[in-house]
Amino acid sequence: MSDEKRFSTNAVHAGTQHIEGAVNTPIFQSSTYQLTDERYEGWAAGAQHTLLYARLSSVNSEAVVEKICALERAQDGELFASGMAAISTTIMGLLSQGDHIVASSDVYGGTYGLMTEELPRFGIETTMADMQDPSSYEAAIQDNTKMLYIETITNPVIKICDIVAMSEIAKKHNLLLVIDNTFASPWGCQPITMGADLVIHSTTKYLGGHSDIIGGAVVGRADLIEKMFIKKVHFGGSPDPHNCYLLERGIRTLAARMPIHCSNAAEIAKRLEGHELIDIVHHPSLSTHKDYELAKRIIPKGTGMIAFTVKGGDEAALKFMRGLEIIFEATSLGGVESLVECPFNSSHMFIPEDVRIAAGLGRGFVRMSIGIEDVEDLWHDISRALAKV
Ligand SMILES: Cc1ncc(COP(=O)(O)O)c(C=O)c1O
Repeated sequence: MSDEKRFSTNAVHAGTQHIEGAVNTPIFQSSTYQLTDERYEGWAAGAQHTLLYARLSSVNSEAVVEKICALERAQDGELFASGMAAISTTIMGLLSQGDHIVASSDVYGGTYGLMTEELPRFGIETTMADMQDPSSYEAAIQDNTKMLYIETITNPVIKICDIVAMSEIAKKHNLLLVIDNTFASPWGCQPITMGADLVIHSTTKYLGGHSDIIGGAVVGRADLIEKMFIKKVHFGGSPDPHNCYLLERGIRTLAARMPIHCSNAAEIAKRLEGHELIDIVHHPSLSTHKDYELAKRIIPKGTGMIAFTVKGGDEAALKFMRGLEIIFEATSLGGVESLVECPFNSSHMFIPEDVRIAAGLGRGFVRMSIGIEDVEDLWHDISRALAKV
């Protein structure tokens, strides 16, 4: 039998440090470490995994990096203070003035802002293509293109990206393929096995799993991570040891939580599809979903994210949302509790209505991150709130 452990065993055990016989990695709440000859030597040899100063690495960050790498089948990784710190350090750390990225206008809003408002100030240009159409990425490649940037599942319309096709294009043109895998989690998809060079997570979401931390991670090719380490040290978006401790605790139950998120979401999607007050349901478990076949290859175990439109438009959606009692109105996703938001008055409030509609966010659009509560209680909450609309 292969010595390589399976996913749930790695989620529990990989990287966990049994210091002084502790079952869990203890919290090493120390900003700096004693300088010994061994550490001076480690520093001289590159410092990446040498315990010197917690902006570089800490006992707790090292434990988590090893765990995420085991789950994503990555060679190495770095942790960050937020998902956006991970994304900005990846792009600004690996690209330079005059370089070009191909991305998609439906990337996460913060990433879109970084690409359209910040990167041009430093001479890095982005062309927005369509993540659902790999040929549009290929068509957008220029002589100075260095990176293709994609997301496994788009927000909020839950479209799926063909990572394998994107990786073929990246390899053909000798480009880096960077993917934000936050919405799928490594349980749902392991993009490195499909050809991605670097995988990014907002660990705030499924990896942390309890809506109690903000964090980020980048894992992938060791040569790229070595470069990223220096950039993290220079840009400074490193996580605190206590944050890493909570993240490690969250990841240990990832493989237990994810099947419930996904089966709850699939069940609710099925029931919503048959409801008289619901127009369109976006969930890849439904045969009506545009990416139903593709999803079987890319995220075969599903997703806990769901979106739908309530008949009666944004006002009806708002009334429905405010009628919910268990499902909590808040932005973010991936925690044990179900969360709901209407993009028109939250994440997409600054985007003109016609642009929102063109992007698939029809009037009455609602996004839900389905938690691990009992599905019958969730359905009761949803159907009762719909009855009040
Ligand atoms: C897909 C995706 N990537 C990145 C981020 C940014 O992560 P953070 O809020 O941890 O900075 C988010 C946040 O919602 C996200 O949904």
